[in-house]
Amino acid sequence: MTTPLPHPLVATLPVYSTAPHSETPLVFRASSNESAFPPPASVVEAATSAMRAGNRYPAFKGADLIARLSEHTGMSGDMIVVADGSLSLLQHLLTAFVTPGRNVVFPWRSYEAYPICVQLSGAELRPIPLTPAFGHDLNAMADAVDADTAAVILCNPNNPTGTAFGRPELERFLARVPASTLVVYDEAYREFVDDRVLAPFEATELLSLHPNLVVLRTFSKVYSLAGLRVGYLVAHPGIAEPVRQVIPPFPVSAPAAAAASAALGEAGFRTMVREAVGAERIAVAAALERAGLPCVPSHANFVWVPLGDASEAFALALREEGIAVRAFPGEGVRISVGEAGLADALTAAVAAALVDPA
Ligand SMILES: Cc1ncc(COP(=O)(O)O)c(C=O)c1O
Repeated sequence: MTTPLPHPLVATLPVYSTAPHSETPLVFRASSNESAFPPPASVVEAATSAMRAGNRYPAFKGADLIARLSEHTGMSGDMIVVADGSLSLLQHLLTAFVTPGRNVVFPWRSYEAYPICVQLSGAELRPIPLTPAFGHDLNAMADAVDADTAAVILCNPNNPTGTAFGRPELERFLARVPASTLVVYDEAYREFVDDRVLAPFEATELLSLHPNLVVLRTFSKVYSLAGLRVGYLVAHPGIAEPVRQVIPPFPVSAPAAAAASAALGEAGFRTMVREAVGAERIAVAAALERAGLPCVPSHANFVWVPLGDASEAFALALREEGIAVRAFPGEGVRISVGEAGLADALTAAVAAALVDPA
């Protein structure tokens, strides 16, 4: 039976990597960058309660959540756009701003969705390799910007390598990018920055000086709401408004908006998640080091094990021991952290699998 042909672009899209399959029961799901902690009771209650009015459409363009975010961030509501995840917002942003013949500069290896979104937007892809230390090469990225660059994407901390840069580096970068180019600053993991080695900073403070900056944030990580799909962006109204025009009329479901609003009030929960991730991250890094495996110091809720060609075999060996991790063939393995006991399980699994780190 034949079906209508899809757009030729579809066949060219990169595919998402997945965790290896195995018959062994899964004990640790360390392959997805989720939170290991279910949301607090007040958040579940808010979402459940919103379900009672589930027969009604939610607030137009997420206005109720925007009002709450405006209060929380101190940013004016006309600078905030909400949608079903920060990835959706990136897609809508590119739809609103990319025109044929333009290009988008982004770091690589970074978040897998970037090349997919950029390709879908019709822009030319300009991936810029990471430094040998697996961080953004901000100089090379600024060098790659030309008159046709619609946007540059920065991922700080970077997924999947966990590296991060500080405010002075961002300021220097912004000073080099023309005002006509968007700088999309994706800080999905901002709360996990290791403040013993890098000072966390408020990227929205740079918006008044750099109206081409777009700050992307998510409720999927430290807020523990990945399954509800909520993200937001903060940008100059001249950027926020066109994106608001592009997004669907009801971009966030009522339970998701209620959950996100309630989650903003749960600062103690976020501290608990951050501290638990920080502690487990140290333990996982130590376990990998003891096993003679390389491990990049991380500012996120995962660690990067640069194993090159051994990556897939390592991921498969761990999966056979009940631990799912994400392999990026030829590059490395990302292990999400947060779940208590993962470090000990890794030590046992590596010993059992007798993985050769070479
Ligand atoms: C860097 C980065 N940005 C955005 C996202 C997507 O977040 P959301 O769940 O809000 O779409 C992810 C998810 O893993 C991510 O790693």
